[in-house]
Amino acid sequence: MPRPSLPYIPPSEITAERHFQVRRELLAGALGLAGAALLPGRAVGTAAAPALAPLHFTRNARYRVADPLNSYEEITTYNNFYEFGVDKTDPAANSDSLRTRPWTLSIAGEAEVTGTFHLEDILRQHPLEERIYRHRCVEAWSMVIPWVGFPLADLLKRFRPTSSAKFVEFTTLLDPRQMPGQRSGLLDWPYREGLRIDEAMHPLALMVVGVYGRELPNQNGAPLRVHLPWKYGFKSGKSIVRIRFTARRPLTSWPAAFPGEYGFYANVNPRVDHPRWSQATERRIGASLFGQRRPTEMFNGYGEQVAELYRGLDLRSNF
Ligand code: MTE
Repeated sequence: MPRPSLPYIPPSEITAERHFQVRRELLAGALGLAGAALLPGRAVGTAAAPALAPLHFTRNARYRVADPLNSYEEITTYNNFYEFGVDKTDPAANSDSLRTRPWTLSIAGEAEVTGTFHLEDILRQHPLEERIYRHRCVEAWSMVIPWVGFPLADLLKRFRPTSSAKFVEFTTLLDPRQMPGQRSGLLDWPYREGLRIDEAMHPLALMVVGVYGRELPNQNGAPLRVHLPWKYGFKSGKSIVRIRFTARRPLTSWPAAFPGEYGFYANVNPRVDHPRWSQATERRIGASLFGQRRPTEMFNGYGEQVAELYRGLDLRSNF
C-alpha cells in the first residue's frame, strides 16, 4: 500500500510543535506519572495534529539536551538528502516521490540470520522511545531533535552477527525514479555508510522511525534512518534498505567520492578542521542572529559515553 503523500503543514501547527515537549510534561504531571517517561506519545501526539501518523512511544528521559528543541519546521525543511537535490529545501520539496510502504530491510554478510524482512514485522518487535539528541552536520550547523526510535544494537543482535563481523554497512534505497538526485553523478549511488561493530552496538546509536512523536517525513529519511549523535550527520544514513555485516571496513560514499575531505570515523571534533572550513564553532539552526555560533563540543558533547570506543586512536585525525 503506498504511503499517503505529505501534505503541507501550516505554520500555525508547526509553531505548536515547539510546545510539544512542555505540554507532554504538563500532561504527565497532571496524570500523576513520575516524569513523562511512561506517557505514550499518542496521548498528546494528536494535539498538534499534523498529517503523519502518531507513534506509540515512551520518553527516555536519560537522553535529553538542555538547549531548546528545534521546531518541527526547522527539522523538516532544512535537510541534507542528496537523493532529492543539493539545496537544503530540496528534500522537503522533492521527496513526495519516495514510496515507503511496503518497505523491506535486507540483512547480509557475517551473521547467522540473513535475508529480507518486512519493516512492519521488525517494528512490531521493537518498542519505540523518544530521545532528544544533538545533531551536528559536518557543514558546521546543528540542531536539537526529538527522535523516536529504538537502539540500533537491539536490531543488530537479532541477526546474531558472527565473530567475523567487525563492521556494519548501511545502504540507502537505489531507485532514480523515486530519488531523482540519483540521476546526478554527485555520489556513487546508492548512499552507503558504515561503522565499526562496537560503534554500531553502542547504546547511543539509534534506529530512527519518527520525529516529534510522528512517523518520519520522507525528507528526514523515512521510513528508517540511523542517528549517531557523536558523529557528523553524514554517518547517519537515511531510508535504509540493507544492513551488511563485514569483516573489512566498507568504503563509504563520502570518503569514496572526496577522500581528502571526509573520513570513515567522522567523530565531531572541534580540533580537526574540514580542509575548507573550521569545525571549532557551529551555527545552531533557528537561533537568534546574536550568539548564533557556539563552540563545537568534542564528540558533540557525548564524550563521556563514547570516548572509550576510541582509546588509542589518534584524535587529531578523523580518517
Ligand atoms: N543519507 C542519505 N541517504 N543521503 C544523504 O544525502 N545526508 C547526510 C545524512 N544522511 C544524507 C544521508 C547528511 S550530510 C546529514 S547532515 C544528515 O543526513 C541530515 O539529516 P537531516 O536532514 O534529517 O537533518
